[in-house]
Amino acid sequence: MAAPFLRLGVNIDHVATLRNARDQGYPDPVRAAHAAIMAGADGITAHLREDRRHIRDADIDIIKREILAPLNFEIAATGEMIAIASRVRPHAACLVPEKRSERTTEGGLDVVGGHNHLAPVVRQLKGEGIRVSLFVEPEVEVMEAARSLEAPVVELHSGAFCEAYLAADEGLTAHELSRLRRAAEHGASIGLEIHAGHGLTFDTARMVAAIPEIVELNIGHFLICEAVFMGLGEAVRTMRAAMDEGRAGI
Ligand code: PXP
Repeated sequence: MAAPFLRLGVNIDHVATLRNARDQGYPDPVRAAHAAIMAGADGITAHLREDRRHIRDADIDIIKREILAPLNFEIAATGEMIAIASRVRPHAACLVPEKRSERTTEGGLDVVGGHNHLAPVVRQLKGEGIRVSLFVEPEVEVMEAARSLEAPVVELHSGAFCEAYLAADEGLTAHELSRLRRAAEHGASIGLEIHAGHGLTFDTARMVAAIPEIVELNIGHFLICEAVFMGLGEAVRTMRAAMDEGRAGI
């Protein structure tokens, strides 16, 4: 059977990071979202952090109003964020762990230890008609824990794989890729929809795209960095082509 289409969600957080550096309204993350969709992105991802260090509440409202493509709203499982998600009603909510001191999301959610806290959150968001995903480590046991939370989707944390690749550590890269592959296979076999994200570049997205169970990649930082050199539209088109090559087994 042919592998399903692999969707690309473009994360626009770091357009907001640049905007906030001067706070003069540009570059506008909503304009970036339009440009990404025009260039072939299938959806927009944005993380409203507790400290509002990049995306702000108003960005989310405008994106929801102006962008017709699906919004994947990344949030910590806090009362404040759940209330915002319930009001905004994005297409999807991806629950992520959040530490104030971290530069970016450092690890996956603790779906085992956090079961009792997460279960009602998943239930509430699902009840609002929002597709819930859990950002998790690529481990078989974690897939089981995600299923027991009745989340329909998991997003596998690809950060360790991407770091190993950037460090040119071939053994570790192969190990991390096989962790992603095994978790994806197991997760799909127990009925989870599988996504992946964090740290992906053209090269690593091409490699991850070869895992047929994965149906969505969410990519931000690298695309916004490449946009400095080639423009956001071209960066998204080049990423799309890399993903298509990986999926086709080229
Ligand atoms: N997916 C999740 C759940 C994330 O937290 C992030 C980072 O905000 C991404 C994807 C995108 O990661 P990157 O910006 O490294 O491409």
